[in-house]
Amino acid sequence: MMPRSKIPDIRTYIKARFTALWIPSIDEMRITGVVAEAARAEGYKVLTWDCVDGLMRLNGDAEAASMQDPEIALRWLRTEGGPREDERQPSRVIVVFRDIHRWLQSPTTVRLLRSTAQDLQAGFGMAVCLVTPDAVLPEDLTAEVTKINWPLPGREEVGAMLDDAGAAFVATLQSQNDSAEDLIRSMQNGRREKIIDAALGLSAEQIQQAFAYSFADNRSLNPDLITAEKATVIAGIKGLTWWEPDPNGMNSLGGMQELKNWAAPRAQMFGERARKFGLPTPKGALLLGVQGCGKSHAVKCLATAWGMPLIAGDLGAMKGKYVGDSEASIRKALSIAEVVAPCILMFDEIEKALGGSAGDSGDGGVSSDQLGAVLTWLQEKTAPVFVVCTSNDISRLPPELLRKGRFDEIFFVDLPTYSERAEILSVCAKRYNREVTTDVAVLDFLQATDGFSGAEIQAAVESALLTAFGRLPATSSDPAASPLLLSDIISAANVTQPLSKTAAEKIEKLREWAVGRTRPVAAVATTAAQKSGEQGPASTMRRRVIA
Ligand SMILES: Nc1ncnc2c1ncn2[C@@H]1O[C@H](COP(=O)(O)OP(=O)(O)OP(=O)(O)O)[C@@H](O)[C@H]1O
Ligand SMILES: [Mg+2]
Repeated sequence: MMPRSKIPDIRTYIKARFTALWIPSIDEMRITGVVAEAARAEGYKVLTWDCVDGLMRLNGDAEAASMQDPEIALRWLRTEGGPREDERQPSRVIVVFRDIHRWLQSPTTVRLLRSTAQDLQAGFGMAVCLVTPDAVLPEDLTAEVTKINWPLPGREEVGAMLDDAGAAFVATLQSQNDSAEDLIRSMQNGRREKIIDAALGLSAEQIQQAFAYSFADNRSLNPDLITAEKATVIAGIKGLTWWEPDPNGMNSLGGMQELKNWAAPRAQMFGERARKFGLPTPKGALLLGVQGCGKSHAVKCLATAWGMPLIAGDLGAMKGKYVGDSEASIRKALSIAEVVAPCILMFDEIEKALGGSAGDSGDGGVSSDQLGAVLTWLQEKTAPVFVVCTSNDISRLPPELLRKGRFDEIFFVDLPTYSERAEILSVCAKRYNREVTTDVAVLDFLQATDGFSGAEIQAAVESALLTAFGRLPATSSDPAASPLLLSDIISAANVTQPLSKTAAEKIEKLREWAVGRTRPVAAVATTAAQKSGEQGPASTMRRRVIA
């Protein structure tokens, strides 16, 4: 028996004669099972409806022929399915409707549902239970239909499913006279926790499929395969995408030492030990700063450093056509993040989804209600979901997002300093498995890239790599035959107009705002010697920011 502490008590709803229940969830199979169990315990018969099979009994037989049209099925329920005139005892039936949301644009279907629910209230002893993957139902139905929140399987339940699946797979192997050693090892110790982490966020049906897929693929349970399955599922949820964390973690982030120092000890704060000790779980961070300076990249590195999955939420994509649609999609996305937790949920370039200004939806941005739903959740969430918002335009952020206490920290990502630029150079070269050959002085590079963003340094490295390829003998493809020259990188930088020159005013405004309100991601130069190492126009500007 699965642990079901969080599952709503359907039996109580049935006993209390609720005649129309609505469960928005992708967890169809598990819901049908739980409803059936509760219904049987109360002496009800259970039927299912979907547009392929029509009205079916749980044993797979059709209850009545040609019921694929939901209107015909509902009419049947109100007449044939209800109590006959000669019957004293009303028939006790619960019908689980699957995917009926696709027909709810039809006024007739909506009316029929309402009338059915009202008739049933008059004492038919029947009930309908609508299970839809979408969290929106027409407003007309809200009076008759009771919504039930259905959580996806939690850690304990996934653990029980893993034990069941594992036992079944072991039995399969043994029946084929194969060794189950690898399989058993793949589910032991820390690996068991990894498999459970990977499966959280999937419905019961999807978890079983993912386990079966992994077993079929390599005769063991591989968390990577299960995570890949989850990535596909999350990709199917409106407004959520699965981002691959950077495989090299903080090693592929140049500079931002303060951010790294802040992040390192916090990796421990999401675990069971920290929770038991009473440490508060970090809530989130806002990364504000200059375009191309590595905000989005830093989040991918952070996910690796903390060993957490990274989900990107797009508020713009969660916008729906109808009233309530957007909020429903936002809630659904947030609840998925909660089940996947511990995880990082990122709203990249959040100002783009927020439209013109301060929560105004007039120009097609996300409305203040929708932003409010996110902020309230941010304040109240207990699940270890670390929320990171990034933005490069403070003027387009509503003040409520910036209010103190909303995030643990607001970081400011400025143009990289001298020493940071040297680090970024090396990190970017390593990304292509190269070392930079210093055929000229590094100082020349630092001067040539004054005011450059990380993205611009990366572009110069890529350009120099192309130049190096041009020098390669026609018969060779050996990287060692044509090194990556610093002089080529400088030449590429010399023909680049950095954004800090073309958009100097905008960047200066951002910096002025950041002073005193944000924490710089770069290490602050504290001694005179350190400060003298940070010369040049861009670094002078930085000192003004971090002063
Ligand atoms: N500090 C850095 N270390 C390593 N790579 C960097 C760094 N800064 C930028 N880059 C490189 O530049 C690219 C662009 O950076 P990223 O997209 O993270 O910038 P951003 O700050 O998010 O910009 P935007 O405000 O336009 O979204 C990244 O893919 C990364 O490879
Ligand atoms: Mg970005």
